[in-house]
Amino acid sequence: MVLINEARRAGETVLLDQQPADPAGPERGLTLPPRRLSKFHAPEIVFGPDSLGEAAHAAVRLGARRPFIVTDPGLFEAGWPAELLRHLRQARLEPGLWLDLTPNPKDHEIEDGYQRYAATGCDVVVGIGGGSVIDAAKGVALLAANGGRILDYEGIDRMANPVPPMVMIPSTSGTGADVSQFCIVTDTQRRTKITIMGRALVPDVSIIDPRLLLTMPEWLNAATGLDALTHGIEAFVSLAHGPLTDHHALQAVSMVNANLARTMHRPTDGGARCAMAQAALEAGLAFTNAILGATHAMSHQVGGMLDLPHGVVNGVLLPHVIRFNGAVAPERFVPIAQAMGLPASRSRPLDAVAAVADQVRALGDEVGVPKGLAMLGVTAADIPRLAQLTLGDACITTNPRPASVDDVAELFEAAL
Ligand SMILES: NC(=O)c1ccc[n+]([C@@H]2O[C@H](COP(=O)([O-])OP(=O)(O)OC[C@H]3O[C@@H](n4cnc5c(N)ncnc54)[C@H](O)[C@@H]3O)[C@@H](O)[C@H]2O)c1
Ligand SMILES: [Fe+2]
Repeated sequence: MVLINEARRAGETVLLDQQPADPAGPERGLTLPPRRLSKFHAPEIVFGPDSLGEAAHAAVRLGARRPFIVTDPGLFEAGWPAELLRHLRQARLEPGLWLDLTPNPKDHEIEDGYQRYAATGCDVVVGIGGGSVIDAAKGVALLAANGGRILDYEGIDRMANPVPPMVMIPSTSGTGADVSQFCIVTDTQRRTKITIMGRALVPDVSIIDPRLLLTMPEWLNAATGLDALTHGIEAFVSLAHGPLTDHHALQAVSMVNANLARTMHRPTDGGARCAMAQAALEAGLAFTNAILGATHAMSHQVGGMLDLPHGVVNGVLLPHVIRFNGAVAPERFVPIAQAMGLPASRSRPLDAVAAVADQVRALGDEVGVPKGLAMLGVTAADIPRLAQLTLGDACITTNPRPASVDDVAELFEAAL
């Protein structure tokens, strides 16, 4: 009989902490090591310079006649949606376009986007932009199949019906939203960001063309690079990490550490841009399966309250959360220190924790991340509310160290 002591479900990752009884039985002298089952989801991925044209082939393969292009004014000005539209029209498709969208996409914007989708009779959803565009595109797809209000879907697997096919083209390096099962939406009434999670939100195809990164402003390149670093580190130490995610998480950490500053100092260095595009992808593959931790749970509250760039807030918070988690679970930081090439990786785990936290801060300094949250507009009076909201965020559940409301408030104070 199969005996499972404890099964813990976090998104698509199911951990079976105790081995089912071996049907061959102990009488045959077989003992298997304790095992954890892992699942791994990912879209079809097309990666490389000039891959944007593949979006048209992908849309056709998914049955498109009238693809719904989701983008925003910044991307439109940069010219990438125009190039995409050309490819789609060459493939005899009749695309619709929606770009009335702001960063940290708002609940009412996504609902307006869905109205436009329904009114224009579109089919496949194609997002071209940063994490905000991709999340809005996922929100439109979710509402197209399930109806209702976007905030009704906060939490895990709340949508019943399969969503229309989705093709995502990221323009930042990056959020990993193009491969993830997450959709992050600003709840404008509560002034916070909610997390919608579900296997149905993993796009069908992700098209990663590093050329798109060349028009990012510097601050956005810095912010999104630190977001990818945060994804790698939080996924590696997450309670839901596994052998299939660890490799991607460490690869992401190593590649961001080696290439982010290079892209800042030499913006047209194609090798560094491709490496950052790959780093964001690897980080996305890691965190969509291993989930995240306290940095993201806290960052969503700050970002929702002040409409701030997500990666910048992460960059400020991450060193503090590393020290908090590393105080009780330092061993996982040794491979991270190794991936960053830090000398402390060869010494005691606690030294590795300190070295990783210092290196994250040093990288933040190098690319221009503010020293503290106060510089971003957070005040001490905001902390009790921010700490309370953090405990309700889905990402806190996989943080390796349990965190009380007082712990989170202390972390916010330290990061102020
Ligand atoms: N769904 C997920 O898995 C996930 C993961 C992490 C973050 N996020 C979310 O993603 C959002 C942040 O996304 P982001 O950091 O990629 O930025 P963004 O999408 O918010 O874009 C910020 C600004 O930069 C502009 N921009 C983006 N790419 C550009 C380019 N290549 N050239 C010129 N301008 C460009 C946009 O027009 C926009 O004005 C946040 O809402 C965050 O919560 C989602
Ligand atoms: Fe993130």
